[in-house]
Amino acid sequence: MSKHNESQDPGDVSAATPPKPSRRRFLQSAAAAATVGAAPHLRAQTQTPTAPPAQVQQAVPPRPVTLTVNGRAYTLQLEPRVTLLDALREYAGLMGTKKGCDRGQCGACTVLADGRRINSCLTLAVMHEGESITTVEGLAANGALSPMQRAFIEHDAFQCGYCTPGQLCSATALLNEFRNGTASTVTADVRNRPAQLSDDEIRERMSGNICRCGAYANIVAAVRAVHEGGGQNSGGNNPNV
Ligand code: FES
Ligand code: FES
Repeated sequence: MSKHNESQDPGDVSAATPPKPSRRRFLQSAAAAATVGAAPHLRAQTQTPTAPPAQVQQAVPPRPVTLTVNGRAYTLQLEPRVTLLDALREYAGLMGTKKGCDRGQCGACTVLADGRRINSCLTLAVMHEGESITTVEGLAANGALSPMQRAFIEHDAFQCGYCTPGQLCSATALLNEFRNGTASTVTADVRNRPAQLSDDEIRERMSGNICRCGAYANIVAAVRAVHEGGGQNSGGNNPNV
C-alpha cells in the first residue's frame, strides 16, 4: 500500500480536515470575487444614459411689431425671438447696421434707442416698440451728412468701412453722453466733469467698437475734431440724436 492510501484510512481524523489552502488557490479565489463584484459597475459604465424625452417647443407665431426707425414707422411681422438687428436688416431692409459677431463683442451693430447707444444684436425687436430708433441711415438729414460723418471722411477714419456704421452711432451718442455729464471709467473725478474730452476719454468711451482694420487713431481724431468744434447736434439735423 502506498503512503497516499495510508492517509485515506477512515479511522484517520486528519483525512476529514479540509486541505490547507495554497497561495495559488487564495489568489484565484480573490480574483474571481473581484470580478463578480466589479461586474455591476462595469455594466453601469457601458450603459448609454437614456436622454430625457425631447420637449416639443410650440412655435410662437409672428405678430405685428411697429418700430419707429429714423422717424419712419415700420410695421413688421416678427416672431418674439427676432433681434432688433435682424429686424432692421432682414425685415425693414435697413442694411446699414452691420452684423459682426452677433454676440455683443464688436459693436458693429450699434444703433441708438431714444438717443442711447445699444448693441442691436443683444436685444429683441419687440422690446423697442414705442422707442425712436436711429441707425446710420438716419444720421444724415435733408441730404446733409452729420458733423460726425463729415469728420470721419476728413480724418480718414475707416478702411474697409464694415465697423463704421457702429462707430458713427457710438461716437454720436458719446458726445451727447459727455454733454449730459456721464462719466467714464477713466474720468479722474466723477464729481467734476472735465470741460474737454481727453483722447483717453474718447478711447475708453469708444472701446465697445472694434475695428479690425485698426483705424483707431483716425477715429479718435475725428471724434476729437467734432468735440472741439462744439459737437452740437452731432447727429446732423435729425432731432432724434
Ligand atoms: S454684431 Fe452686435 S456686438 Fe457684434
Ligand atoms: S474700417 Fe475695417 S473694420 Fe473698421
